[in-house]
Amino acid sequence: MSSVGYKTILAAMAAAAALCGCAGNGNGLDANGSPITPGGGSSGGPLTADFKSIQENIFTPICTKCHIGASAPEGLQLDATHSYSLLVGVASTEQPLVKRVEPGDPDSSYIIRKLQGSPGISGQQMPFGGPYLPQSTIDVIRQWITNGAQQSATAQSIEAAVKSVQQFAVAMTSPDDGSIVSTPVPQIVIAFNGDIDSTLINNTTISVDSAGHPGGDSAANPGSQQPVPVALSVATGNPAALVIKPKAPLGNGTYRVTLHGALANMNAQALGSDISFTFTVDALQ
Ligand code: HEC
Repeated sequence: MSSVGYKTILAAMAAAAALCGCAGNGNGLDANGSPITPGGGSSGGPLTADFKSIQENIFTPICTKCHIGASAPEGLQLDATHSYSLLVGVASTEQPLVKRVEPGDPDSSYIIRKLQGSPGISGQQMPFGGPYLPQSTIDVIRQWITNGAQQSATAQSIEAAVKSVQQFAVAMTSPDDGSIVSTPVPQIVIAFNGDIDSTLINNTTISVDSAGHPGGDSAANPGSQQPVPVALSVATGNPAALVIKPKAPLGNGTYRVTLHGALANMNAQALGSDISFTFTVDALQ
């Protein structure tokens, strides 16, 4: 099939997939990461320029071999729970001045540079060690970014349904609560189940404390909590994600992040009570 014919069918399938919300299982790509002709697979949705499809066909089957859990490379977890909030509008760890996904601008998005092996990247082309994704597959991710890097239509309607019955709440944190991370943490990302009211974001509503270095100088100062100075921002293009950036990556120690109950969504629904989570950095020195 010519690539033009393929793209025409892709566009038609994108509309169909958005309607049926089919669950995929990565069958949209063959073993080399090339798209399988749409309609050929039985249960897997085809690869389309839609976040849900990209997650099911690329991130989950290919990238989570490595990019999963507390020690995911560069803190980038690409499983379905974490990926969107850690990609869109969030700084790359390797090159902090570049966003992993810059909505509307694939060439400025670090994920695209890494997938294409573009000059100037740090580290290796992705997937690490290959096989690399064919350009036609990368082009689908580029198209999703060009279109504004939205969460898929299906995900948004589920989110809207959740919002209507639930209070404003935390949907995910990175690092995860209680996790032990083996590399210094350059940023903390917290995703909510709705857009956060950014006027409420400040150093009284959000704080990070360090409980010192376990087994280190904490003996002199046991259990004391030290505030960690941080910069707070909302992820570009993803107003449900809060990015907390310490001046320097957080080194060995245990950290507690506290969110004040007054934090609210755009409908003025507040968290209600304070929420906190902890994680430990235990990096080889
Ligand atoms: C075999 C393991 C492995 C697989 C599979 C893999 N990666 Fe990676 N990834 C790494 C490692 C290790 C690093 C850090 C070293 C480097 O960049 O070379 C990394 C770094 C990255 C970074 C840089 C993150 C940052 O914040 O700077 C991106 C983006 C990335 N990977 C995307 C992907 C995507 C997308 C896929 C799937 C298509 C993928 N990786 C598959 C191991 C892997």
